[in-house]
Amino acid sequence: MNKVLNNDFAAIVTGRRSIRKYDSTVKISREEMTEILRETTLAPSSVNMQPWRFVVIESPEGKAALAPLAKFNQLQVETSAAVIAIFGDLDNFSYAEEIYSTAVERGFMPAEVKERQLAALTQHFSVLPHEINRETVVIDASLAAMQLMLVAREHGYDTNPIGGYEKDKIAEAFGLEKERYVPVMLLSIGKAAEEGYSSVRLPIETVAQWK
Ligand SMILES: Cc1cc2nc3c(=O)[nH]c(=O)nc-3n(C[C@H](O)[C@H](O)[C@H](O)COP(=O)(O)O)c2cc1C
Repeated sequence: MNKVLNNDFAAIVTGRRSIRKYDSTVKISREEMTEILRETTLAPSSVNMQPWRFVVIESPEGKAALAPLAKFNQLQVETSAAVIAIFGDLDNFSYAEEIYSTAVERGFMPAEVKERQLAALTQHFSVLPHEINRETVVIDASLAAMQLMLVAREHGYDTNPIGGYEKDKIAEAFGLEKERYVPVMLLSIGKAAEEGYSSVRLPIETVAQWK
């Protein structure tokens, strides 16, 4: 089901506000959430390794496990259709064969290019410092997070990115290996039950320079 409610990109971008209170009677079906995530994963990523991982926390049990970790962000947990915990997968290279083989199957890439690129990437990942891998997965997963916030609005929902939670406990609370999955942020999503606050942006002269 592709329930696009808003196709006006300017309205999607300029009307986005962090929404913290949702209509808790509005749920998002598995089918629609899957479509939202599919559009989200059209985001770019470093060497197309797509290291973003999502845990869609929507059940009463899932929300109950999340609540003690969500600090001052209880309203979003309580009222949202779901809170999506976004992680970066440090073991993202284990999907390289699948990604590149599928590209060949679909005719996006000749087999010899795949072999050459995979060989180069195998070498690259074998010496990649842990900190660089970590930084890369956080960048890539953050791009997906931003895309998810905009795709949500396309589907008539709003979001709140949340950094205020117990990052050191989130992976294990949802059965993921802590050493492998780097917490990036939580994103609450649902039907807005408030307008949200307008917020100031610094002038472009402050944040940009031309050389
Ligand atoms: C990485 C990140 C972490 C954030 N953490 C929280 C949070 O823990 N709780 C919250 O209510 N808002 C949080 N926010 C939302 C910001 O307060 C909000 O984006 C900012 O004030 C601008 O408002 P706007 O999103 O309505 O444009 C976070 C935003 C980002 C990008």
